[in-house]
Amino acid sequence: MILIVGGAGYIGSHANKLLTQKGFETVVYDNLSRGHRDFVKWGDFCEGDLLNMQQIRSCFESYRVEAVMHFSAFCLVEESVQQPEKYYLNNVMGTLNLLQIMREFGVKHFIFSSTCATYGFPEKIPISEDHPQLPINPYGQTKLIIEQVLKDYDRAYGLKYINLRYFNAAGADPEGEIGERHHPETHLLPLVISAAMGLKPEIKIFGTDYPTRDGTCIRDYIHVIDLADAHIQALQYLVNQNQSDSFNLGNGTGHSVREVIETVRKIGKRDFKVVETGRREGDPPVLISSSRKAMETLKWKPQYEDLETIIETAWNWHKKRLSL
Ligand code: UFG
Repeated sequence: MILIVGGAGYIGSHANKLLTQKGFETVVYDNLSRGHRDFVKWGDFCEGDLLNMQQIRSCFESYRVEAVMHFSAFCLVEESVQQPEKYYLNNVMGTLNLLQIMREFGVKHFIFSSTCATYGFPEKIPISEDHPQLPINPYGQTKLIIEQVLKDYDRAYGLKYINLRYFNAAGADPEGEIGERHHPETHLLPLVISAAMGLKPEIKIFGTDYPTRDGTCIRDYIHVIDLADAHIQALQYLVNQNQSDSFNLGNGTGHSVREVIETVRKIGKRDFKVVETGRREGDPPVLISSSRKAMETLKWKPQYEDLETIIETAWNWHKKRLSL
C-alpha cells in the first residue's frame, strides 16, 4: 500500500491516478485545506492533518503502508514571505511528524516533493542537482530543511528517500478527470486560461525588462503526468536499489511568459487583455532544469515535451470543468 500524503492536491491526485492505473494500491492522506475531496477518485482516503499525530497514527494503523509519497505542502512563494510561520509549521513540522510515525511503523521508503526553489537565484543554466542550494524565500527554505533532515534520518535510521525537485508543474490529466485547481490561484498558466475563457478581465505580465529574449521570465514547464510518472520510477528505484538520491524534474527547455500567453491564445482561439506591470519580488529571470540524472538513473523520460500539448491538456480540463 502506497500512502499519498497530499493526494487530494494537484500533483498528488495525478500520481494517485497513475499509481492505480499501474496496479498499486493507494491510500490518500489529506486535510483538504488546499486539496479537493472530489480529486480522491482512486484508492482509499484518510482525512487528517499532519499537525495531528493521532490522525496520522490512526491512518498507519488502518493500512499496511509500505512507502510514502509526500506532496502535501503550502507552495506559494509570496505567501511564504508574508506568513513564514504557516510554512514552517505545515511544511517542516508536519513532515517531521509524518517521518516520526513512519519510524514508529518501520516504513523506510519516502518520496519527497522538493522544488527548484531550493536553488535560489541560478548561477548557471541549466540547473543540475549539484548547483548550490541557497533558497531566497521561506518556501524554498522549508523544502531544503526537509532535504537536510532526510539526509540525517538516512544516516541514523536507515530511511531511504528520493527528493524530486520539480520545476514548473503544468497541464492536466488528458482524460480530464482532474487538473489544476488552486484557491487562491497565483500560477501563470491557469490564470492565462481564465483570462482567455473570460473568467478574469486580464492577465498581468510581471516584468518585461528581464535579460531574456522577450524581456519576460523564462520557466521550464513540466507536465503533471510526467511528474507523476517520475514518482513511480523513483519508487521502483528505491525498492530495487535501496539508495537515497535527489533528482531534478523538468523538460530542459524554457518558455517565456509571453510565449505561454501566445500559446494559450492560439489554442483557445480567443483574444484577451494583457497588461504589462512591474516585476514580482523574488522571481529569477530564467529557471531551466537539467534532468539528465533522472533520465539516466531513473530511466525517466517526459512524454509531454512540447508546450502546446501541455497547455492543450490544461485548456481541455478547464473547459470540461466549466461546462459541468
Ligand atoms: N507570472 C505573470 N503573471 C501572473 C502569474 C505569473 O507574469 O499572473 C509570471 C511569474 O512572474 C513567473 C512566471 O509567470 O515569471 C511563472 O510564475 P508561476 O507563479 O506560475 O510559477 P513560479 O515560477 O513563480 O513558481 C513555481 C512553483 C513554485 C516554486 C517556484 C520556484 O509554482 O512552487 O516555481 O521558483 F517555488
